[in-house]
Amino acid sequence: MKDVFLKACKGIRSEYTPVWFMRQAGRYMPEYQKIRQKYDFLTMCRTPEIAAEVTLQPVKILEVDAAILFSDILIPLEAMGIEIEFLEDKGPKVSPTIRKSADLVFLREIDLEKVNYVFSAIKLLVKELSVPLIGFAASPFTLATYIIEGGSTKEFVNTKRFMFSESDSFHKLMSLFTEATFKYLAQQIKAGVHAVQIFDTWAGILSPFDYEIFVKPYVKELIKGIKNVPIIYFCSNTSGLANHLKDINADVLSIDWRIDIKDATLLFNNQPLQGNLDPLTLLGTEEELFKRAKKILVDGNLAKAHIFNLGHGVNINTSVDRLKKLVDFVHEFKIMEA
Ligand code: CP3
Repeated sequence: MKDVFLKACKGIRSEYTPVWFMRQAGRYMPEYQKIRQKYDFLTMCRTPEIAAEVTLQPVKILEVDAAILFSDILIPLEAMGIEIEFLEDKGPKVSPTIRKSADLVFLREIDLEKVNYVFSAIKLLVKELSVPLIGFAASPFTLATYIIEGGSTKEFVNTKRFMFSESDSFHKLMSLFTEATFKYLAQQIKAGVHAVQIFDTWAGILSPFDYEIFVKPYVKELIKGIKNVPIIYFCSNTSGLANHLKDINADVLSIDWRIDIKDATLLFNNQPLQGNLDPLTLLGTEEELFKRAKKILVDGNLAKAHIFNLGHGVNINTSVDRLKKLVDFVHEFKIMEA
């Protein structure tokens, strides 16, 4: 198995910088669309053979250095008594919502049997893959925003109202999600994933003060509990939280484009970094794209190790050909010649 990605997670550099992309499997890819026309998204997630096939698509087409399991951060809610739906063009819908202390009764202890299809897909994949497989889960906080809001949101009004009016119950919800997420990730590791990524997509909506109170202790607890595989902590819009990210103790910090990777290497010295190209640079000219990719590769070289990635998921308008050219650019890039 190609090990450049896992080496980088451990802080070891190789001859070239490993690269993979968040949302590398998805609607921007015609091969994905072909399957997606036949099945809805949840059916694809719930059918191990389809999930495995879609996971492999970007590995074969783009030749990236890691695969990420095809699934979604909301899937474990199904194993906690919460219903999830994905509405065309409207995004996810989660019910019932939990917005106050009394609603906590809706949440059951996680029953991993109910999401056994996730672990079956992992078992199929580890037999076939030539690159490491990344498993994942949302952070307890990011998962909580979906169950509190009932779906995607811009302002997080219900989340913050709950947090600031019934903080004890909010902490209780965080504890329950931390335990459930730990069990869910431990089972993915048992099934064979080689690394895990914790998605804290919405951590950046909080002040550093509240991140420290409501998010950080749970992320740290989760990271501390996970054994045997490297852990990547992804968060977005979190430049203001930098001081708190220094001791989160993930093996790799995944950063977005709002922070200069050079500054990140100074802030998080001795820490492997992942990122941090703006996904929408892929919609511009090749010249502008490679200029930015080059800067990230040169500055990423100052980190203990660097995994090239986007600062967020691949946009649906991205051309597969352009993305493949970016992979080749990263692989062929020699720091000495820059
Ligand atoms: O990265 C990968 O290729 C692995 C699979 C993956 C998906 N979602 C597939 C997906 C992963 C790791 C996720 C994580 C995820 N899901 C996050 C965290 C990362 C991030 O993007 O910030 C979040 C917030 C979600 C929740 C979610 N899932 C939303 C808001 C939506 C709707 C928006 C959209 O793009 O459709 C989804 C759907 C979703 N998850 C799709 C895919 C491929 C599109 C499904 C389709 O084909 O219609």
